[in-house]
Amino acid sequence: MLQGKCIILGVTGGIAAYKAAELLRLLVKAGAEVHVVMTRSAQEFITPLTFQTLSGNPVHTELFNLIQEQEIGHISLADRADLVLVAPATANLIGKVANGICDDLLTTTIMATRAKVLFAPAMNSNMWENPIYQKNHAELKSFGYHFIEPAYGDLACGWQGQGKLPEPQKIFNSAQTLLASNTLEGKTVLVTAGPTREEIDPVRFLSNYSSGKMGYAVACAARNRGARVVLISGPVSLPEPEGVETIQVVSAQQMYQAVMDRAGQADLIVKAAAVADFRPVIRDAQKVKKGGVETATVELQRNPDILAELGKQKGSRILVGFAAETEQLLTHAREKLEDKNLDMIVANDVTQEGAGFDSDTNIVRFLTADGKVEELPKMTKAEVAELLLDRATALLPGH
Ligand code: PMT
Repeated sequence: MLQGKCIILGVTGGIAAYKAAELLRLLVKAGAEVHVVMTRSAQEFITPLTFQTLSGNPVHTELFNLIQEQEIGHISLADRADLVLVAPATANLIGKVANGICDDLLTTTIMATRAKVLFAPAMNSNMWENPIYQKNHAELKSFGYHFIEPAYGDLACGWQGQGKLPEPQKIFNSAQTLLASNTLEGKTVLVTAGPTREEIDPVRFLSNYSSGKMGYAVACAARNRGARVVLISGPVSLPEPEGVETIQVVSAQQMYQAVMDRAGQADLIVKAAAVADFRPVIRDAQKVKKGGVETATVELQRNPDILAELGKQKGSRILVGFAAETEQLLTHAREKLEDKNLDMIVANDVTQEGAGFDSDTNIVRFLTADGKVEELPKMTKAEVAELLLDRATALLPGH
């Protein structure tokens, strides 16, 4: 499946470097031409000879190597690549790339390439959780770099936690998905994400726990597949994704207007936002005072149902909704699918650990208009987004 693809496999200095040999074997077996670039510290863990033998190509280790430079050179390596895959990627490597430092062959290749770059980080769990690392990670993601999240388990340093390099087969699968994907080229995908805020007065509002992670993951995945992406986002603390037209809104009414203004351009609409169904009838111009009362009532009125409105004027557009439920997941999700005239709905039982609001993972079921239900295990929101787009793309006219 990777026949004719040129992959640069970057290996950095971590105990998991030995697993890169198995990953290389899988890539070569699938037909890829693989050039391995090792950092100096990677060579402390595993020898270049191992990778040279498995890849059938010279292993690149030096930025200024006269022979290698003449034969292939770091820029032509970067130019030839269809994918740069770094496994394992240390916190040091991620930190350098996030800060534009190119002081060896691998960082220079990553900086110079226009190919997709996929990092498989592996490190001690405390390093993984360190806010400096997380900032670098999030920043690179917002620039369009791809990541496979490290696995949980016993770490070589004696700690238990997140930080293990995922199994080579899983990294291989992600690389394959990335390389296979320009499936949304020429399409416009509109995504909504995050909560809405319905103001009571200048300092108070009604809202929910949506972080925007699910919708942003869909937007990034669609962009990575070559789509033009319009992301309409409620107030969240995520950085605006690079290469995505992001429109910030606050209330459901603003989201309604922004969606309706752009829906006509969209081939696919994914509504991951948690839109408030109601808003206060009165929004006080001044901060409401306690006024010596023990109870108070806020009268609410219905907000427009954006998705239902889209369903009424659907045309050939593919409409995907989400259903956040706390009971009777399938019944309520199916009702929404039918009432709102959707092609597909992603049902999440938000009472489950690792599902729904604000978590990095989700546990979902895909329900489609033909009556099918696909049940998925717990996975990252990025993985859910990929599968969602696989299914939604298959529903697009002509597929
Ligand atoms: O943002 P995260 O923290 O990552 O969390 C993700 C999520 C839990 C918010 C997401 O996975 C999710 O389930 N989003 C939909 C939440 C929801 O409010 O569902 P609902 O059952 O109220 O609405 C059903 C569908 O109709 C949704 O697609 C919603 O966007 C849409 N809707 C709802 C009300 C309304 N007035 N207009 C709408 O368009």
